[in-house]
Amino acid sequence: MTKSEMIQISIATNAQATTSVLPLLENQQLSASGKTRSSDEHIKHFLDSNEHQGDWGVMRTVYQKNTRTMFIGAGNESQLTLQKLRALAAKMAGKLNTNNITQADVYLTELDIAGASLADKVQAVAEGIWLGLYTFDAYQTKEKKETITLEGIHLIVDGDVDEAKHALAAAKAIASGTLFARDLGNEPGNVCTPEYLGEQAAALSHPKLKTTVMDKAAIVKAGFTALLAVNQGSAKEPRFIVMEYNGADHSDAPIALVGKGLTFDAGGISIKPAAGMDEMKFDMCGAAAVLGIFKAITKMNLPLNVLGIIPSTENLLGGAAYKPGDIITTYKGITLEILNTDAEGRVILSDALAYAAEQKPAEIIDFATLTGACVVALGGQASGLLGTGENIKAGLTASGLHTHDRVWELPMFEEYQEQINSKIADIKNTGGREAGTITAACFLSRFVDDIPWAHLDIAGTAWNMKGNDISPVGGATGAGVRVVVDYLRNKTK
Ligand code: BES
Ligand code: MN
Ligand code: ZN
Repeated sequence: MTKSEMIQISIATNAQATTSVLPLLENQQLSASGKTRSSDEHIKHFLDSNEHQGDWGVMRTVYQKNTRTMFIGAGNESQLTLQKLRALAAKMAGKLNTNNITQADVYLTELDIAGASLADKVQAVAEGIWLGLYTFDAYQTKEKKETITLEGIHLIVDGDVDEAKHALAAAKAIASGTLFARDLGNEPGNVCTPEYLGEQAAALSHPKLKTTVMDKAAIVKAGFTALLAVNQGSAKEPRFIVMEYNGADHSDAPIALVGKGLTFDAGGISIKPAAGMDEMKFDMCGAAAVLGIFKAITKMNLPLNVLGIIPSTENLLGGAAYKPGDIITTYKGITLEILNTDAEGRVILSDALAYAAEQKPAEIIDFATLTGACVVALGGQASGLLGTGENIKAGLTASGLHTHDRVWELPMFEEYQEQINSKIADIKNTGGREAGTITAACFLSRFVDDIPWAHLDIAGTAWNMKGNDISPVGGATGAGVRVVVDYLRNKTK
């Protein structure tokens, strides 16, 4: 469990602590409980001083006899969104923590947000607090370590308490899954190896979850030859992880989630440039997303059957490494002409997707830090979305906007498929300079049969060295967890 998850958030209908945080809108407009306090002389005096105009994120404290009221600027109410509320909660949590406050009553759910229910707002505020205070400092042995003084937050709600409590429980599971994915991503490549990913998967326990971690011998026996080809250059054994969560009737076809688990991608013989290569420890963030989703859905006991599949290896340059020009016969039997060993993600996913398709799932969603081209196309604001499952894509797009873990579709017109035709094998593993994200998806499409499928290219979203509103420290973001958990939850409603 990460440190920020230790913060207890609860739902209450009246004041619990001596510190309260109230939103202050543009032009000193107060929220409902702010109005009831405006006759307090200290608050009156503070507002009369015009020191706080409700500017976004600005926080000022009014000291009263035995209590204090902190006003956080929320800007213009008509422009508020759930993401802004999430970001505001993250900012607030950071400020409470730097002020060494241990307990606070928080009234942010009083803000009016177009189209948002109380449940949505509770979830956004709770996520903002837990995600916003995330740190990864396990390896900082001295003073740089962040301490979290904040112990308890009471979300003071006016409305259906049961609805709020239910939303809070969901937020807790979702934040926990997201933070787990961040931790896995941030672990360095010498710690987070394929073996480690297998251990982390096996450690997720739930009465309805069965996990199988295949070692190299089992992978050889099963015939995951494409995974083995990429693994040839590494001194570390690969792993193939299968997780089966049976939350629904056994006869229901599962939803298969497949995650790229490259614990370090040096490019192989087609080696990457040195600058920034350290960031290729994040090349297992697809696997981390799948593990994070499993953590969340098992905590929520979602009534669905979900299958998780993770192929994992390093892509290095050992003497036995696979080479440009090599031809590989995959698990499915399709042959690959390797033109660039750095296009390894699609190679290992070919076996995982073919295996997934064999299980006859209702749909397949895969997660992969697959192409640099996707970073160029969409940057860090949206994951690339491609595939054949029209309903999945529509659902993921809507869930992406709702959770702000956004995805955006790129086309897969059939003409793109020609770019991966090979003269010497069935297909080649690169499609040339043009439309790199799309031709990578075309490659994957050859392995999913006719099962409705969506591919999330999270190369641009899975990590962020600068940090953002809900992940101020930077590093792995947990991209893919919130959008897909929302999508899965919607299936149960
Ligand atoms: N893991 C990389 C993709 C990547 C690059 C993710 C940069 C995030 C940031 C992937 O394995 C890769 O190297 N892809 C190549 C494919 C190319 C050789 C066809 C790429 O995108 O350059
Ligand atoms: Mn690569
Ligand atoms: Zn890679």
